[in-house]
Amino acid sequence: MARILVTGATGLIGAPVTRQLVELGHSIIAQDLFLNPGRLGAAADEVELVRGDVTDLVGLLSTLKRGKVERIVHLAGAVADTIVPMQVVMANCVGTTNVFEAARILDVERVCWASSSGVYGRSQEYGATGLLDEDQLVGPFTVYRASKVTCEQVSLAYRDQYDLDVVGIRPVTSYGVGRLGSGSGLIADTVRRVALGEPAVFPAMFGPREAKWQPMYAADIARTFVAGVLVPRPEHVIFNAPVSEILTVGETLETFRQVVPDAHLDLATMGAAESSADIPLLDGSRAQRELGVVPEYTFRTAIEEMISIYRQEQAATV
Ligand SMILES: NC(=O)c1ccc[n+]([C@@H]2O[C@H](COP(=O)([O-])OP(=O)(O)OC[C@H]3O[C@@H](n4cnc5c(N)ncnc54)[C@H](O)[C@@H]3O)[C@@H](O)[C@H]2O)c1
Repeated sequence: MARILVTGATGLIGAPVTRQLVELGHSIIAQDLFLNPGRLGAAADEVELVRGDVTDLVGLLSTLKRGKVERIVHLAGAVADTIVPMQVVMANCVGTTNVFEAARILDVERVCWASSSGVYGRSQEYGATGLLDEDQLVGPFTVYRASKVTCEQVSLAYRDQYDLDVVGIRPVTSYGVGRLGSGSGLIADTVRRVALGEPAVFPAMFGPREAKWQPMYAADIARTFVAGVLVPRPEHVIFNAPVSEILTVGETLETFRQVVPDAHLDLATMGAAESSADIPLLDGSRAQRELGVVPEYTFRTAIEEMISIYRQEQAATV
């Protein structure tokens, strides 16, 4: 069993990663800038909770050394573009380089960290190539996306220059009970409203009814990071999420109606950006092959689980 530091441990993906690693019997230091132990459930009592900032290299070194950390899952950072681009660069580029540097100095055996499917450009830039694999050129068009490309390049350099064992995973939009309201939290918001019988809209960011997207439940992307930190050294360094399901937005709305037939649900009103939204679709076969992870949930089974959780939470408050 390994001693593992999870950064961003009480976030949307970090919480299920931490819970899963505890279930497998590993010894975990759960680090977050804004610790929210409630997200860890019973696992909160099994881990060492540390409030820490990945932009603080000295603090990171001290946590790793004191905790005799052998492996790291690095999920902390800015998860979208903020109104202050420098915050994104600090949290992602500086924070992630600090994690690589601390791991190099202290001979950490493996760092598995979160890049993003946002490294790719708009799908029309790829023509009719079908699903994008990891050999396709990246084309980031925001500071957040560019920060992830920078971290990928830095990870490759640490691997080549210092033989650091690094595994980068590119999650697609991953949803689950946890963050509400922005990015993938918009999906959770929709599921929660449908669960509680409130009027809901499916977020416009996925585009019009015929647009396609690849759902990935937080528990499944968490299993990918768990495999990424534990499997014997894989051949590659960068992996698309091991996606398999592809849904149109219309099929997504239909799935909601199959699960909750009287749902008050529609597609959010779209602006020009969303009506032409065009999200590249990923080939997830490399991660399936080398990390041995295939999603266990479909969109339908995932929202069934989320709806059940939200209804139980509401019942507990009345
Ligand atoms: N959820 C998705 O759909 C998605 C998609 C692509 C990539 N990712 C990447 O996966 C990673 C995890 O995302 P998430 O959805 O769990 O996000 P999240 O916001 O739920 O969790 C991130 C956690 O990091 C913590 N954090 C932020 N800055 C920190 C710092 N400087 N030091 C220590 N902790 C800090 C936050 O408090 C938060 O708990 C991120 O790197 C994100 O960019 C997520």
